Amino acid sequence: MARLSVNIDHVATLRQARGITFPDPVAAAMIVEIAGAVGVTAHLREDRRHMQDRDIERLRESVQTRLNLEMALTDEMLDITTRIQPDICTPVPEKRAELTTEGGLEVAGNAAHVAKSIERLHGAGVPVSLFIDADENQIRAAADCGSDEIELHTGRFCEVRSGEARERELNTLRRGAELGHALGLRVNAGHGLNYHNVAPVAAIEGMGELNIGHSIIAQAVFVGLAGAVKEMIALIDKASRI
Ligand code: PXP
Repeated sequence: MARLSVNIDHVATLRQARGITFPDPVAAAMIVEIAGAVGVTAHLREDRRHMQDRDIERLRESVQTRLNLEMALTDEMLDITTRIQPDICTPVPEKRAELTTEGGLEVAGNAAHVAKSIERLHGAGVPVSLFIDADENQIRAAADCGSDEIELHTGRFCEVRSGEARERELNTLRRGAELGHALGLRVNAGHGLNYHNVAPVAAIEGMGELNIGHSIIAQAVFVGLAGAVKEMIALIDKASRI
């Protein structure tokens, strides 16, 4: 059954907007765990636009479920990740000018660097979930590079409007999940998922964690964070049982 890991970056975004101490992402992590999420995800971006180094340290001290650290595969981020020891890390591509992570990591065309980085993370005892497009070459390359898990990028599925295009994107995700499983990878998914589009992704056979951030933090403005998390879990549970 698919499970929810909540990305709490945007709690920090709100705090950074005023440069003060609240809302505190660590307090948010405690609430999402108590509300039933199986994981807490945070992205330490190179430009520190939301999460700060100290947030990640405090999250490591406080998170009781599974702390998932998203990061770029740079020397600085590899140093931080091996020191912090998250329960899982998710390497993502990063561009300074983007509003949010735009595409999956280019693993196939960058295999030597990715494999070397994974070796370093494994050497420090940190498992890896590469964030990739549901593309056969990328999935096979992720397995070849030694990734433990993959997170399939759901952005395109979430963006398309027509029913036909959605079904096509959903089938791409289904095939990607199937291939990932066949290669022995745990398969997660995320990006752009919300209360209206999560069900078919949660229903994909063998789906692991769904990493969802913006829609939950946005809904929390209206119904509170615990309520927003519980609403999402209810949708995921219902879809997974079908
Ligand atoms: N997964 C990854 C790898 C991401 O980079 C993000 C965005 O930080 C998410 C999931 C969550 O995306 P959203 O905020 O659109 O739910």
